[in-house]
Order: sequence, then structure tokens, then C-alpha cells
Amino acid sequence: MEKLVITGGRRLNGEVFISGAKNAAVAIIPAAIMADGVCVIDNLPGIEDVASLSSTLNKMGAVCEYIDKHTLKVDSTGDITNCAAFEEVKKIRASYYLLGALLGRYKKAEVALPGGCNFGTRPIDLHLKGFRLLGADVEVTNGIVKVKAERLHGAQIYMDQVSVGATINIMLAASMAEGTTIIENCAKEPHVVDTANFLNMMGANIKGAGTDIIRIKGVEKLHGAEYTIIPDQIEAGTYMIAAAIAGGDVTVRNIIPKHMDSLTAKLAEMGAAIEKQDDSIRVMANGRLHCANIKTMSYPGFPTDLQPQMTALLSVCDGISVVTENVWDNRYQYVAELKQLGAKITVESRVAMIEGVQKLTGARVAATDLRAGAAMVIAGLSAEGTTEIDNIRYIDRGYEDIENKLSALGADIKRVEI
Ligand code: UD1
Repeated sequence: MEKLVITGGRRLNGEVFISGAKNAAVAIIPAAIMADGVCVIDNLPGIEDVASLSSTLNKMGAVCEYIDKHTLKVDSTGDITNCAAFEEVKKIRASYYLLGALLGRYKKAEVALPGGCNFGTRPIDLHLKGFRLLGADVEVTNGIVKVKAERLHGAQIYMDQVSVGATINIMLAASMAEGTTIIENCAKEPHVVDTANFLNMMGANIKGAGTDIIRIKGVEKLHGAEYTIIPDQIEAGTYMIAAAIAGGDVTVRNIIPKHMDSLTAKLAEMGAAIEKQDDSIRVMANGRLHCANIKTMSYPGFPTDLQPQMTALLSVCDGISVVTENVWDNRYQYVAELKQLGAKITVESRVAMIEGVQKLTGARVAATDLRAGAAMVIAGLSAEGTTEIDNIRYIDRGYEDIENKLSALGADIKRVEI
């Protein structure tokens, strides 16, 4: 087992290169098994979730081979099983995308129920409702979801709630259904658009991704494609917030600045200086920032996946901030850990009230989930003394090389064996 050890108080300066988007990668890798051909996926982040998915695809009969650290070749021309019911599949929540991909290509799938981060109930009823409307029978027994259809047909599907996973999963299956599917009240996240672009490169006919309504004309076959994944909006945001809490001058490179609008607006409102360029954002912060109110929402609103990192920053800003979590019902487990570092936060239901303190003080804390782990790193960068972070396997699920990227900016951070 390993932990991260951070000695806080160092300013951050320089530039950091952002990896490919985790949430796009975990949809695009399963989508590749829909191709009757070879897909080459580039700009994949070097993270645990990607490694688990590529090994899952191998076990299912696809041939996955790394061309280099960030490029995966997926050959799905051989026999692929439509059953992914083994232990490894439960490790990542995004394995639910195997349902949509296999249902689309083979009209049949058996997948073990997803695991992943633990911040409240994570139902997949909307995914299953979509599959049923496309003509599939759905059965959930002993933790395994079974979907099967004689034929899939186009349908009009209204999403009761905006869901990234359900939007993508239905898009996958509908790409190979007969006729036209219209999904309304879709998620508009950049990774929804990225997955649609990849499917279109494979020969799908998807229009409207990135808006509230997606129209999909089903095709009989999908072919191989070469594709480059978009940069990770949440990793970029994490480094921007790190720059804001540690003070300094950091340029976050290889990003799509438009994807960062909700965060850049908020950091500017709090007193950070922001400069946007074509594919980078520079964040300059000198001294303490002001408090702010945050409400998480689906894209283009403020992302829930940056809520813990932002709360860490707000805990050392001037004044009282209010954070409202509108997406997940239990995403404040990490607050108890921040309090170990001296943060003053009270949580009632979905609302956290944060009273900025003069300084945080290093302590031993744990990552309670992926982004909670990132929040501990951010807090540790500003805390006086040494912060030790346990359970960093969560952080490794979603951040490539975090200690080296931060060290290069001047942070004092080390990964050590426990
Ligand atoms: C994705 C992201 C996750 C992020 C979340 C919200 C991936 C792999 N993960 O998760 O990091 O926090 O979007 O931006 O992309 N819901 C239902 N029924 C469903 C599906 C969802 O009620 O069938 C609810 C959820 O409980 C939640 C809300 O819808 O309250 C949004 O969830 P969703 O957008 O589906 O999240 P994920 O796709 O699982």
C-alpha cells in the first residue's frame, strides 16, 4: 500500500499538461467493441480505470494492445463474448457502458453491476428504461444485469433526470438499432459529445450531442476508427484550484478552455487572475481569495466532480461560503477528513457552510473517493506541516502521475510505501 505525503506552503509555478479525459475514455473503450474492425484510441489517460477496462475487453475476446503509454489498439474482429460478469468488471462503475455496447452489437449482454466511487445511491434505472424502450428485455439477478432483444428499434426516450451515463449508454445501443431514436433532456457534458464523435467516426449517425436532444439513426454495422480523446476537464480544474490555494502562477496546458467556463468564472469572482489562451488557461493567485457560493449542476453548470476540491479551497478563503450539491445525495463524506486539517464546515443535507480559517494544519487523512482524494491533496498543498493521505488507490483511478505533475510545479509531495 502507498500513501501521499505533502508538506504544504510551497507556491506553485510553471505549466502542467493535462491528460485525456477519464470519463470519455471509460465510455470510448467499451464503444470500441462495437466495431467490426480495429480502433486506435489516442490520448488515453494513464489511470487505473483505463487499465481495468482494457484488461476486461481482453478477457471478453477483444485484442487490446498498448501502442504506447497513451494509445490503445482494440481489435474486435474476433469472437467477443457478450458476458462480462467477472469480478474485475465490478471494480469500475463505467463498466455499465459494456451493456449498451454489447446490446447494440449483439442484441444481448450480461454485465456484473457496477461498483466505483461511493457517494450515495447510484441507480441505473434510466439506462435500463432506455434499453426497454429500444425493445430489450431487462433482468437484474444476483448482481448481474441481463439485457436481450430479438431486434432493437428506434424510440423516443425522455430522460426523467439529466444523466451522463444513461445518455451515453442509450446512444451506444441506439447506434445499432433499426430506425431513429430521439433522446430528450440529455446530458451535455464534453464526454457525451466525445463519445458521439467517436461513434460517428465508426460510421454511426448521431446528431445533436452537446444539446438537450440527440437524434440517432441506427446503422447495421460499425467499423474501426482512429480517435483522440479530449483533455480531462476535471483534472484541469483540479490543477487550477491547486494553483488558487497554493498561490502562484500556473498555466494548465492541453485543455479546451470553453469546458472550464464555470470554474474560471468562479475563480475570477473569488479574486484569482485568469488568462485564457487557445488551449491553455493561466491561473495567478496572490494571497487569500474571497468566499463564494457554488451550486453543482450538469454541464455547463459547475461540475459536481470539482465540488470537493473547491470546498477545500473555500476552507481557507475569507468569509463564509455556501456549497450546494445538486447531483449526488451523499457527496460530503470527505468533510470529516478536511476537518481533521482544521477546516470549519457544517453540512446539512445537500448544503455545506464553510467558514474560511486562517490556515489548515497537516494531519493524517484518507481519500474517501476519487475527487475527495484530490480535495485532500489540494488541502495538503496549503496546510502548515505535513499531510499524509491514505487510500490513494482512489486517486490513482482518475489522476495520472499526480505527484510528479505537482512536484514539477514546485509542490513538496511524495508517494511512499506504507
Ligand atoms: C458521471 C461521471 C461522474 C459524475 C457524474 C455527474 C462517469 C464515468 N462518471 O457519472 O464522475 O459525478 O456523471 O456529472 O462519467 N441517476 C438516476 N438514475 C440513473 C442514472 C442516474 O437516478 O439511471 C441519477 C444519479 O443518482 C445522480 C444523477 O442522476 O443523482 C446524475 O448521475 P449521472 O449523470 O448518471 O452520473 P454517472 O453517469 O454515473
